Amino acid sequence: MNKATNVDILLGLQWGDEGKGKIVDVLTKGYSIIARFQGGPNAGHTLEFEGRKHVLHTIPSGIFHPDAINIVGNGVVIDPIIFQRELDSLKNTDPDASKRILISRKAHLILPTHRLLDAASEHAKGKDKIGSTLKGIGPTYMDKTGRNGLRVGDLELSDFQERYQVLRDKHLKLLGDYTFPFSLEEEEEKWMKCAEALKEMQLIDSEHYVHQKLKEGSAILAEGAQGSLLDIDFGTYPFVTSSTTTAAGACTGLGIAPNRIGRVLGIFKAYCTRVGSGPFPTELLDDVGEEIRKEGREFGSTTGRPRRCGWLDLPALRYAIEVNGVTELIMMKSDVLSILDSIGICTAYKYQGVEVSHLPYRIDPELVEPIYTFLPGWKEDLTKITEYNQFPETFKNYIDYIEKATGVKISIVSVGPDRKQTIHL
Ligand code: GDP
Ligand code: IMO
Ligand code: MG
Repeated sequence: MNKATNVDILLGLQWGDEGKGKIVDVLTKGYSIIARFQGGPNAGHTLEFEGRKHVLHTIPSGIFHPDAINIVGNGVVIDPIIFQRELDSLKNTDPDASKRILISRKAHLILPTHRLLDAASEHAKGKDKIGSTLKGIGPTYMDKTGRNGLRVGDLELSDFQERYQVLRDKHLKLLGDYTFPFSLEEEEEKWMKCAEALKEMQLIDSEHYVHQKLKEGSAILAEGAQGSLLDIDFGTYPFVTSSTTTAAGACTGLGIAPNRIGRVLGIFKAYCTRVGSGPFPTELLDDVGEEIRKEGREFGSTTGRPRRCGWLDLPALRYAIEVNGVTELIMMKSDVLSILDSIGICTAYKYQGVEVSHLPYRIDPELVEPIYTFLPGWKEDLTKITEYNQFPETFKNYIDYIEKATGVKISIVSVGPDRKQTIHL
């Protein structure tokens, strides 16, 4: 009998920080493998349970389940120092955590000089900076596509040190073009130690492993990082990250054919946030934006920066649903909006004076004016609710409105950061 299964994908539909970490953790009991397919330590995925909070950057969010294997796929970029720090903090509570982590030999390495180049490039851009997390993501993916990168598998080669020197020296030449002070020695020493430790992890040919597991009938969930509007092709370029954050990224970042993709779970906040620069049509620069930021504790999990907050943007959401082939929606942080009397939803844009319902080429403030509908707020605490029929009618209407406007069902509603504050509809 052919038991072959498909890979499900969970990914963000906005500008990241939708709550992917929390939901992957909740869903892990239904999967035997969780696999990250792109991004790197620019991600910060938060999980809360039993009164504790954990933030993961490189390690997949299935790591707290003793029976799940966690794969760091070929599409991911790894900083050995950050990886080691993450692993050490996990080992405090679970000495066996590393046994459940498999790393693709084809994943690229973030060098200390990649981080310096990221910082130097942002510094040189001044007010036009991307607002990068400064983790070296852009320069590492540039070296990957430029065919200069170093991969995890290279750590096993006898001439790794020489390869490292060649790339580092190339970076130092590039850094010479910037007026950017730096010191490298200490970081480099630390990096080498952590790279040595990374080499001792379970390194695998992950695409082969994934195919083997699919043939055996294992259920696999691919975990996205960032969000669709930060995708290198489909995001608000150039204010994006340097990887494919959309569903196609799961194919290239794990080596799965498109016809092996099963469900595509698209996750979004009941409002919008963005951290870093770039257009954000529904951004609230007033007290309401400030209230949402405070109530939703909207500060970056990786950088601590305040996140920009705004109303839910339906043209952007529909666009993300389309680009990803989303089969079901997951709505997060609905509890945060309980403080508001009335809730705005952007239903369309006025683009250069004409009403459009799709996402145009550019969504800069001078070109786009959001058109809003306001729905009554529910003004009730949702955080202790455990099932759908306990929701206030006004909140059910909010769910209904979004489902009708997008044509996709919401399968999970999250009403708080804890694992338990999750309602399956
Ligand atoms: P990710 O990058 O998509 O995993 O999301 P982050 O972890 O960066 O940001 C989501 C933040 O919202 C984290 O602090 C979570 O603990 C928190 N969170 C997740 N779901 C909910 C929810 O339903 N309500 C509230 N109030 N907080 C939530
Ligand atoms: P998670 O996985 C939110 C943003 C940065 C910046 C832009 C480019 O936690 O949702 P980069 O460091 O990738 O070169 O930064 O992308 N960004 C994120 N914003 N959540 C993330 O990840 C992000 N990763 C990158 O703020 O605007
Ligand atoms: Mg995050």
